[in-house]
Amino acid sequence: MKNLVILISGSGSNMAAIVQTAQREDWAHRLNARVSAVISNRADAPGLAFAQSHGMETAVVDHKAFSNHATPREAFDAALMAEIDRHQPALVVLAGFMRILTAGFVAHYAGRLINIHPSLLPAFGGLNTHQRAIDAGCRFAGATVHRVTAELDHGPILAQAVVPVLVDDTAQSLSARVLAQEHLIYPQAIRQLLLA
Ligand code: GRF
Repeated sequence: MKNLVILISGSGSNMAAIVQTAQREDWAHRLNARVSAVISNRADAPGLAFAQSHGMETAVVDHKAFSNHATPREAFDAALMAEIDRHQPALVVLAGFMRILTAGFVAHYAGRLINIHPSLLPAFGGLNTHQRAIDAGCRFAGATVHRVTAELDHGPILAQAVVPVLVDDTAQSLSARVLAQEHLIYPQAIRQLLLA
């Protein structure tokens, strides 16, 4: 069985879309794959309750617990890796996971680590993507599923979705339009990786 581990920090709506697609499409039987754990760096991430109510194992590795450490980022990543590796995952899926990962973490999961970013990469890496797209006068925006490499928001692109930017769009309205597409392309991209 191929195990997927999903990392979240917040609402976890992409995680929920993946879990629901996997259950609806019966990935366990059809792809020999399952979401084996949802891990958050925040105990108060709303997505954790959804995961638990859908039968997922959940765990919290709180980044703040490592702030007094000599190398907090490395210590947090080591603890996170230990938690992830209990599941021997075929894929580690970042879904709104708001921590920058160390090069060591990225190397450890080389070829198994993917992310979704709310812009049409390579445009608008980083934060605040929707407002930046509106401010730049973009007519189109979107989302990108990509492999994770050591450089933030730069890995090879696996899937993209495009939406129009409307004249009266705010960052919030654009973000909702993009997020609806994220919920379609992320499960699709994962399915394709599992079939490859
Ligand atoms: C999404 O827009 C995703 O692209 C970005 O963070 C947001 C997470 O939303 N990386 P959710 O937690 O999946 O609802």
